[in-house]
Amino acid sequence: MYNFDKKVDRRNTNAMKLEGYESYIFGSSKNLDLPYGPDDFIHMWVADMEFACAPEILDAIRDRLDREILGYTSNYDGSLFNAIKKWCKDRYGWEIERKELLTSEGVIPALERIIKYVLKEDEKALFQTPGYGQFALCCDRMNRDYITSDLIYDGEGGYTIDFDDLDEKLARDDVKLFIFCSPHNPTGRVWTEEEMKRVAELVKKHDVFMISDEIHCDLRRKDAPKHVPFAKILPDYEKLAICMAASKTFNLAGLQQSAIFIRDEKVRRKWKKKPWDY
Ligand SMILES: Cc1ncc(COP(=O)(O)O)c(C=O)c1O
Repeated sequence: MYNFDKKVDRRNTNAMKLEGYESYIFGSSKNLDLPYGPDDFIHMWVADMEFACAPEILDAIRDRLDREILGYTSNYDGSLFNAIKKWCKDRYGWEIERKELLTSEGVIPALERIIKYVLKEDEKALFQTPGYGQFALCCDRMNRDYITSDLIYDGEGGYTIDFDDLDEKLARDDVKLFIFCSPHNPTGRVWTEEEMKRVAELVKKHDVFMISDEIHCDLRRKDAPKHVPFAKILPDYEKLAICMAASKTFNLAGLQQSAIFIRDEKVRRKWKKKPWDY
């Protein structure tokens, strides 16, 4: 039923990975003198896959198209919430709350919004490096500064958290937001529960807002530890947002949908000021 050997032709679909890479990576699509043509590159720069979408997903989209009108829509009937609730419960034993679930056209736009809602102009974000490049770019676009805490490299492909450095940097008066990536891009680390509990202690100790970007949580190696949503590590901490999406899991990035859980009512209220957020 699932064919992982089929080569899907993506030409002329405006695939960013194959056709948009020149301007995205090199800054301009004009006057570029690259030593290789587009077919000579192995396009591994952006996280989407060459597998076709699962037939169940394509069928559901076709069914929706058969309804013929694609006017303004939102998530009124609870079916989106129920689907995400079941997913989080079955996979992660996490009971989500409806009031905390918001949707966004992607995790990146959600990061930008939360950065803006949480940080005043003179306050900073902290994230770990090596890190997903958009954490820095989101701060840049929102005109907020950031500092970083390096992971410790063991020289053999393994990375661990530098807890002393994290403690020191979270203690700074100007650091009010910690952006954590779990599982971690780009190292591929799935943090153990023990590591996450230590991170949680530091977040609580320094009373910072935490975003846990968990977009990669459904894709893990067989022998990796189970993913634990940070919401379960910090069950009563208000200043928390969790970012998840079906986009990486099911290769749906072009649909631009993500699920953002925000505990903090004040931040949720700011988010909902936009009229199209339910
Ligand atoms: C850690 C992380 N967060 C967010 C994103 C992008 O999320 P979205 O496409 O929903 O904006 C990526 C994409 O590679 C990612 O690796």
